[in-house]
Amino acid sequence: MRIQDCQILELPKISDPRGNLTFVEGCKHVSFGINRVFYLYDVPGGADRGGHALKTCHQFLIAISGSFDVILYDGRDTRRIHLNRSYNGLYLPPMIWREMDNFSSGSVCLVLASEPYREADYFRDYNSYLKAISETAS
Ligand code: TYD
Repeated sequence: MRIQDCQILELPKISDPRGNLTFVEGCKHVSFGINRVFYLYDVPGGADRGGHALKTCHQFLIAISGSFDVILYDGRDTRRIHLNRSYNGLYLPPMIWREMDNFSSGSVCLVLASEPYREADYFRDYNSYLKAISETAS
């Protein structure tokens, strides 16, 4: 998978003087069925998260509150994306290395995932990830 396959998508937003509402349906607003939801919160200033690629899991990241940056690598190109809208999300297919930093105070990152958590699905070592993608490319 390449960085070009990672996309910022705009979710439905119901604007209301009582407060706005955004919703996500699996296989509709995101391309995959949602089998897990997790969130990062209380991230201290200056902390980095991520630092891995997933072998088969698709994910969709939303800055539900505040903002943060997602840095993507596909073994060839790199891209830094700033997420700061509750109605936008970043779709990440499998085999994309991602890191996250620049979390604003009180920010919350919601992640929708296509699969339950499975440590065996992770590349946590960048060199192992590079080796795996060079083997699939050749
Ligand atoms: P980690 O993948 O390091 O978090 P991040 O990529 O956001 O920095 O996960 C931290 C710990 O939480 C690690 O021990 C695995 C565990 N974990 C689960 O048990 N279930 C999950 O769904 C996730 C995402 C992590």
